[in-house]
Amino acid sequence: MYDFKIEAADKATLYSDLALAMQGLIGDETDAVANMANAAGLLWESLPDLNWAGFYRNVDGELVLGPFQGRPACIRIPFGTGVCGVAAQTRTVQRVEDVHAFPGHIACDSASNSEIVLPLVRDGELLGVLDLDSPKHARFDEEDEAGLKAIAEILARVL
Ligand code: SME
Repeated sequence: MYDFKIEAADKATLYSDLALAMQGLIGDETDAVANMANAAGLLWESLPDLNWAGFYRNVDGELVLGPFQGRPACIRIPFGTGVCGVAAQTRTVQRVEDVHAFPGHIACDSASNSEIVLPLVRDGELLGVLDLDSPKHARFDEEDEAGLKAIAEILARVL
């Protein structure tokens, strides 16, 4: 049984604890599905105010739903469409304070109000994206972005 208790007073500590826990959870496991599934579970348990946490994989130039926590979501997203598709196409983090103002946002869960999507890149190849949604407006700030970039780097090594 894994029982990580991550309750930090400040975000910097939260994300450094989370990175250590993520590394420990992955260990020397190389199975991508297992690692994405456990990563989604750990993010979901550790970060407050989420209504979705999970992965879309790059399958032949299209984003296809991967392991996640939250409500069932849309399965296929073309590159360039929605927040995930723009993150995949541009390979840049998309941190969106109000998803309703994002052109082409795909509303998988009407409870979502803000979102952050991080591209997962290894050796120049886009493996997929990590997507976190929140019912809170502007849930993700610069510290979340920095902390999650470190998590995305850990994950990109083992997907
Ligand atoms: N909102 C995303 C779609 C995925 S769901 O949030 C799980 C988007 O616009 O790409």
